[in-house]
Amino acid sequence: MSQPISRRGFVLGAGAATAAILTTRRGLSSPATEQRVNIDLAKETGTVRPELHGHFAEHLGSCVYGGLWVGKNSKIPNINGHRKQAVDYLKGLIPVLRWPGGCFADDYHWRDGIGAAAKRPKDVNLHWGMYTEDNSYGTHQFIELCRLIGAEPYLAGNVGSGTPQELRDWMEYCNYPKGSSLSDERAANGSPEPFNVKYWGVGNENWGCGGNMTGDEYATVYRRFATYLRRFGETQPFLIACGPNGNNKEWTQKFWGNMRGGRPSGFAMHFYSNGRGNTATHFTLDDMRQQFASFPNIEMAIVEQRALLDTMAPPNPRLGPVGLLLDEWGVWDRMDPEEEKKYGRLFQQITIRSAIAAALGLNVIHRQAGKLVMTNIAQMVNVLHALLLTDEDKCVRTTTYYVYEFTKAHLGQLSVQTESGAAGAMELSVSASRKDKDVTITLVNPKPDVTLNVNCSLAGGSAAGATARILHDADLNAANTFATPDRVVPQALKVTVQGGTVTAELPPLSVATLLVKLA
Ligand code: AHR
Repeated sequence: MSQPISRRGFVLGAGAATAAILTTRRGLSSPATEQRVNIDLAKETGTVRPELHGHFAEHLGSCVYGGLWVGKNSKIPNINGHRKQAVDYLKGLIPVLRWPGGCFADDYHWRDGIGAAAKRPKDVNLHWGMYTEDNSYGTHQFIELCRLIGAEPYLAGNVGSGTPQELRDWMEYCNYPKGSSLSDERAANGSPEPFNVKYWGVGNENWGCGGNMTGDEYATVYRRFATYLRRFGETQPFLIACGPNGNNKEWTQKFWGNMRGGRPSGFAMHFYSNGRGNTATHFTLDDMRQQFASFPNIEMAIVEQRALLDTMAPPNPRLGPVGLLLDEWGVWDRMDPEEEKKYGRLFQQITIRSAIAAALGLNVIHRQAGKLVMTNIAQMVNVLHALLLTDEDKCVRTTTYYVYEFTKAHLGQLSVQTESGAAGAMELSVSASRKDKDVTITLVNPKPDVTLNVNCSLAGGSAAGATARILHDADLNAANTFATPDRVVPQALKVTVQGGTVTAELPPLSVATLLVKLA
């Protein structure tokens, strides 16, 4: 059972009404300051769609093979080859899952991953190590995983080395109910019911690993592919075009400048938060500050790309606006070569600093909910900003897993306007959402050395009660490792409510979500 974090040794500092010394649960002292937050429950800024907490799994390192997928004959407990522990942990947490890449997608040939496993061809994974993969994990396995964990599937199609026919055939194979050769083949392969896949990526990073095109070249290619991507069954496909790298406006302008008719439903930008100074468990404060500085830039990119989209592709009276996606995001630290050798490409440890980064990102996403239709953190298991790390039969929930677990309460609620008067990447970060009498508030204290006594004032409502959970560690490099899987786990946090005011105390390096019931 987790215990509420208690204030031990609260002492007023000499001469400063707002300064104090607070002892954290790890026994370290830090000065405390008051922080006021205004939450206007009447100023709604958009729905926090479930898809805003989406995820991504690529054939890269041990994300799929060895991570999610251990195979049916493995000694590791599995469900038809899927690691059971991972399925149990991920169930209900993953609203949408993008697969099979990333860069891998633009050299993936879906036909290689269907039919009898023993007969599937062996392909070379040219982006992620030139190793051979046996294609034992293919479309049916991915759809089964999605059904097991309750995720909406999102297939990323091959534009780079593929053809329009290959992609339209994949769509027919997945979505045509029955009677065509491809749908009958799907039935013969064990799935008479169509998969009804809604989300389809038409290429990935086509400005780079997906074909090294310019925005206008890609628009021409996009139009050709999209011509054949139709409603094959009851599901209207939501076609997603490749958007910019970060806030690259030239890509967006050139793409939309060369789009005529047949426009995509979504436009997907990628924005990683690099931390290339030191490896994940050796971050310095400077490394952390540099990485956290990316989040205001991500927020600006969402606002600016949204405005550009609305100018270049004004909302269609029937279909509405083109949806903006943050299709890949998360921390990308300097890799430890030994760990990569052992656990696969782009394996990195996930620390309390990574969890704070995830929460800073999710707060941006919640605040900008009205401008986004989907976001996917990269990636779900063993790669980059992972929720789970695996080693043989061990499966560890990372700090970031817990951030997703307790911020899930925002999903389906209406984001509301917050204001803290504190701007900057190292200041308190806030997002809030509401539905009926429920208000969810996520507070992030990225400061390494200051406790924040946060006073949330609710305009337009009075609080009847509140509960909260917090994730915190005083050591910015603290992680849930295979040896210490429960080093950083959520704790109950004491919250005080008084009319329109909700108060909680956030130690340095902490993330908390408050669940407030209105009177
Ligand atoms: O997530 C890892 C890689 O990052 C993806 O394959 C690619 O899309 C991006 O550059």
